[in-house]
Amino acid sequence: MLVRLMYASRAVPAVDQEELVAILKKSKVNNPRVGVTGVLCFSEGIFMQVLEGGRTAVNQLYNRIAADARHSDVVLLHYDEIAERRFAGWSMGQVNMARLNPALLLKYSECAKLDPYAVSGKVSMALFDELVATAAVMGQG
Ligand SMILES: Cc1cc2nc3c(=O)[nH]c(=O)nc-3n(C[C@H](O)[C@H](O)[C@H](O)COP(=O)(O)O)c2cc1C
Repeated sequence: MLVRLMYASRAVPAVDQEELVAILKKSKVNNPRVGVTGVLCFSEGIFMQVLEGGRTAVNQLYNRIAADARHSDVVLLHYDEIAERRFAGWSMGQVNMARLNPALLLKYSECAKLDPYAVSGKVSMALFDELVATAAVMGQG
């Protein structure tokens, strides 16, 4: 039984590149142990993350992440039972925002800014899929 979950949150001001690297490093150690894969996107203080894996593993991880003091306003954007993973190649990949085309943001939102709080979960998921397809995901395994 596989599920896919996506949420957004606002990073606290103290979160910088170093903290982001620490989160990714921790994810790459922990996620394979519980069979979770996914991608994390961080842009202008906003996190978006997709987690895929067994229902229990994904729910437990989401609850742990939601309680993390490094972010707030955690909002569930999408949750679905799935037949197959989309991000099987990454224990936790990172969207390379430097490769992001502003036109892609405009395609889905009112202005060229990543704001999952202003759009539907469906739109966020579609945007995320295209980000992964076009902006390149960094970090192997
Ligand atoms: C935006 C964000 C995303 C995170 N993603 C993950 C993740 O995918 N996997 C993970 O194990 N921890 C993730 N964490 C860290 C967890 O909240 C938590 O600190 C960590 O899992 C604790 O692991 P430990 O018990 O091994 O120290 C994330 C934290 C934040 C703020």
